[in-house]
Amino acid sequence: MRRRTWWVAAVLAVVACDRGGGAARVGGGGNSAPASAAQTARPAAAAPVGVLPPGVTREVGEQGRELYLKACVMCHGENGGGTALGPSLTDRTWLEGNGSFDEIIAVTRDGVETPKEFPVPMPPRGDGSFTDEQIRAVAAYTSSIANAR
Ligand code: HEC
Repeated sequence: MRRRTWWVAAVLAVVACDRGGGAARVGGGGNSAPASAAQTARPAAAAPVGVLPPGVTREVGEQGRELYLKACVMCHGENGGGTALGPSLTDRTWLEGNGSFDEIIAVTRDGVETPKEFPVPMPPRGDGSFTDEQIRAVAAYTSSIANAR
């Protein structure tokens, strides 16, 4: 849990730097409200759903995309291209498992306690609380972006 706090703090620090130097608004009566983070920060985006594994509906794929934005994008990147904290999911090379739908489900469920090439473990079950359905959905979405090209 301490690790989670660590990267949340890091992300917040980056957002805070981004917002630096905002000009003070001259309001009537000195009641100017500062712009909220929601107005200034661009919401995270993620690649569109690609070709899903057999038997997975489009709706489930879209749910998986939402879950990816919640629990994966900060380490694997907006388009699955990877960051300093997690490997690319779209380069067709696999450090864990072999890239099959079943293996992606397994990695997502179990996390990666001792990464081969990255500094911080991947937590199990997304944010730690994903149900089996949510794990299947986010793994299906991940499979769809992994096989997009
Ligand atoms: C704290 C950062 C972090 C988060 C959050 C995270 N991962 Fe990971 N992920 C990693 C690391 C680290 C590895 C293992 C890399 C290694 O072995 O060096 C990994 C490996 C993987 C792999 C295997 C990739 C490969 O190249 O073998 C998949 C698939 C994966 N993650 C999917 C997900 C999904 C889906 C989510 C969201 C539910 C997620 N990850 C959330 C850091 C993260």
